[in-house]
Amino acid sequence: MAPTDPIEVCSIIAGREVAGASGGRRRTSNPARLDEPVAELALGDAGTLLDACRAAREAQRGWAATPAPVRGRAIAAAGRLVEANAEALAQLVTREIGKPLAEARGEVREVVDTCDFFLSEGRRLYGQTVPSEMPDKQLFTFRAPVGVAAIVTAGNFPVAVPSWYIVPALLCGNAVVWKPAEYAPATARALTEILLHAGLPAGVLNLVLAEGEQTFAGLEAALTEGLIDKVGFTGSSEVGARIGELCGRHRQAPCLELGGKNPLVVMPDADLDLAVEGALFSGFGTAGQRCTSLGTAIVHDSIHDEFLARFARAVEAAAIGDPTADVLYGPMIGERFRDRFLGWLDLIEAHHSLHGSSAIGPITSASPRAAFVGDPDRGLYCHPTIVAGITAEDDLYRTETFGPIVGVARFGDFDEAVALANDHGYGLSASIYTTDPRSAFRFRERVSAGMVSVNNSTSGAEAHLPFGGNGRSGNGSRQSGIWVLDQFTRWQALNWDYSGRLQKAQMDTAELAADLGFRV
Ligand code: UN1
Repeated sequence: MAPTDPIEVCSIIAGREVAGASGGRRRTSNPARLDEPVAELALGDAGTLLDACRAAREAQRGWAATPAPVRGRAIAAAGRLVEANAEALAQLVTREIGKPLAEARGEVREVVDTCDFFLSEGRRLYGQTVPSEMPDKQLFTFRAPVGVAAIVTAGNFPVAVPSWYIVPALLCGNAVVWKPAEYAPATARALTEILLHAGLPAGVLNLVLAEGEQTFAGLEAALTEGLIDKVGFTGSSEVGARIGELCGRHRQAPCLELGGKNPLVVMPDADLDLAVEGALFSGFGTAGQRCTSLGTAIVHDSIHDEFLARFARAVEAAAIGDPTADVLYGPMIGERFRDRFLGWLDLIEAHHSLHGSSAIGPITSASPRAAFVGDPDRGLYCHPTIVAGITAEDDLYRTETFGPIVGVARFGDFDEAVALANDHGYGLSASIYTTDPRSAFRFRERVSAGMVSVNNSTSGAEAHLPFGGNGRSGNGSRQSGIWVLDQFTRWQALNWDYSGRLQKAQMDTAELAADLGFRV
């Protein structure tokens, strides 16, 4: 196959490719070279999702009966397979969504890290022994798999974020139906095949390609039929709210990982160069298309002008362009992302000042940028934009702008900084640059974000700390590490009375005589 031949992708249910394309066919292209096709996909529809859920339901019982350490061996094999295919997978991520190769390699590493963490969890999945209030009685807790998990993911992290759901869900004994982003289908197919080659029985992991509304209809039908026990969703706050409502009607709590408007506070005592480096990476890395990307730098009055000058210089000098080269960022993920981003530029107001590039909007030969690598007319490239003068009243302050745009606001005292860090209503990731531990801990205490960085950027979380947000960023669910186990298992309590008589809790318990009137 020539590198420009599109990769054929279709849904995979119970290990078999679903040939018919009930949801139509579509072609995707490389966002860095629009003339280069990447995938030719056959979309399914709501019925495809239902079929996949039925196959998962069928397979789940046997998978749950497989001892957890044995399931852990499949996760171990998956990790080794991802490692062995790491370069091919990273190249595909770059080709499909335009993420710079170094970042794509890091993302693939995150899948390996996730497998490495969970492979031994199969030998733990600890329950507890709990003392009973009665003699000859024992209490225990067990983690029971939830059942069938339907996982719907975005394409900005087309392998790492899905693995945060799929790997622990499988390890815990669930079967999975995965609906990846339709704009990253080739990567989804590659990851699914890798996981299936790790020894998963047919039907334990199923891939469904479908558009958003069909997916929603499929979820609704499958929930009504009792075929889904857990929904995991990474995407926009608006769709997350709809999924939350749908699941709530079925008495389920989904795992929601939604948007962010992540603040980075720069205190007067901060190491300014470090803060600029952090703002550059989290604001413009991945072209600002991470849920953890920097939204607004909130900078103390006394250093505001100096920070802005250094930040603007760093952004002006940054290499942008061909994602296979050494660049800060490449193209937007796809046309939909580029168009939405251009719309957000309309939120810039007269009181703002703009910095960081020679223009705003698309980078083209007619609207060039000095430090550009490659041919701007071939891809979906956008100028980086720093918007200074942001205030709490601005639309830009409270709107998640998924793309290469960063606001800069100023503050006088700490309370003001905390208010600016919280009042937009998102609560995913927040960062503070300071050399004073009191500011760091006070910020930690008062900021509403689920993840806090001190002297580090808002993005780049490690794969084994709890990941997730509050407010408009989620419903309090957490992924990664031991914390995600509560998403994919339910606690089951067991009490076993071997006294040979009915001992009634609270009523037949022994009383000790205490003299509560005693004083020293
Ligand atoms: C996302 O953008 O959906 O912390 C996830 C980070 C990455 C994951 C981002 N490890 O930036």
